[in-house]
Amino acid sequence: MEKFVIKGGKALKGEVHISGAKNAAVAILPAVMLADSPCVIENLPDISDVSAILNVMSSLGADVKLVNKSSVRIDPKNVNSYIVTKEMAEGMRASSYFLGALLGRMNRARVAPPGGCNFGVRPIDQHIKGFEALGAEMTIDNGMVDGCAEILRGASIYLDVVSVGATINIMLAAVKAKGLTIIENAAREPHIVDLANFLNSMGADIMGAGTGIIKIRGVSSLRGTTYSIIPDQIEAGTYMAAAVATGGDVLINNVTPEHLDSIIAKLKEIGAEIIEYDEAVRVTMNKKPRKCKVKTLPHPGFPTDMQPQIATVLSVADGVSIVTEGVWDSRFRYVDQLTSMGANIQVDGKMAVITGVEALTPAPVKAVDLRAGAAMIIAGLMADGVTEVEDIIYIDRGYEKIVEKFSKLGADIKRVPIIEENQINKLA
Ligand code: EPU
Repeated sequence: MEKFVIKGGKALKGEVHISGAKNAAVAILPAVMLADSPCVIENLPDISDVSAILNVMSSLGADVKLVNKSSVRIDPKNVNSYIVTKEMAEGMRASSYFLGALLGRMNRARVAPPGGCNFGVRPIDQHIKGFEALGAEMTIDNGMVDGCAEILRGASIYLDVVSVGATINIMLAAVKAKGLTIIENAAREPHIVDLANFLNSMGADIMGAGTGIIKIRGVSSLRGTTYSIIPDQIEAGTYMAAAVATGGDVLINNVTPEHLDSIIAKLKEIGAEIIEYDEAVRVTMNKKPRKCKVKTLPHPGFPTDMQPQIATVLSVADGVSIVTEGVWDSRFRYVDQLTSMGANIQVDGKMAVITGVEALTPAPVKAVDLRAGAAMIIAGLMADGVTEVEDIIYIDRGYEKIVEKFSKLGADIKRVPIIEENQINKLA
């Protein structure tokens, strides 16, 4: 096991390069299995969620070859299994996309459900409703979600909640179904558009991705393609928040600025100066953060995956801020960690009331989930002294080379092994 040791108190300065988007990668990789010939996927982030998906694809029979650190060539020709066991899905949140991709490929899928999430229950009722509308018979037995169809036929599906996962899964199952599928109240996140662009580049007929209504006209086959994944909106937002939190001046390269609109708007409200370039943003902060109200919402609202990071910035703002979680039932488990560093935060249901304090103070903290872990790093960079962050396995799921990237910005952050007590005894 490892932890991060951070000596905070320094303003971040310099340039950082943003990797490919995790949430696009975890949808696009399973989608490769819908093709008849090999695909090359570029700009893949080097994170554990991506390796987990590639391992599952290999186990299912795909031929997976790394072309270089950020590109992979996948030949799905020999995918002959439709079963993703609990062991195969372990350590991976996006296992449910194998349901849509395998149903779309072979009209059959048996997949362990996504692991319990650290910020609330993770229902898949809208995914199931979508598959059933397309003609699949869905059952849950022995803890596995099972889907089976003689033939998948296009259908009109209205999502009761805006769900990224359900929108993606229905697209995967419908792209080769017979006839027209219409998804209403669809999610509009940039990674939904990226998946649609990828599938269209394979010969699919998808219109409306990025709006609330997506129309998919089924095609009989999809061909291999070469495709480059969009930059990671949340990784970019995390470095932007860190620049603001430390009173820094950071140029964030390889981003799509329009994907960052809501994050840019809020950070400007907090007092940051932000300049947008074609594929970069520069974030400068030279004052105490101003209090503000933030409510997370599906895209184009403020992303829930930036909620812990912005709350951390607001913990030292000049007054009382209100952060409301509008996507997940509970996403404030990290608050106890921040209060142990001196933050003054009261949580009431889906709302956190943050009374700004003068400064955060170092403390040993834990990453309770991926984005909460990123927030703990930001808190450590803000606090004058040494902060240790444990359970960093969550952070490695979604942030490529985070130590190297922060170090390049002048941060004092190290990854160090945790020596267990029994190992110490052995050494003694
Ligand atoms: N929901 C249902 N029924 C469903 C599906 C979702 O009620 O069948 C509810 C959820 O409980 C939640 C809301 O709908 O309250 C939104 O969930 P959604 O399905 O959009 O989330 P997801 O697809 O499981 C993705 C990201 C998350 C991100 C959410 C919201 C991936 C792999 N994960 O999850 O990202 O928080 O969308 O934007 O794309 C992260 O990257 O750290 C992360 C957790």
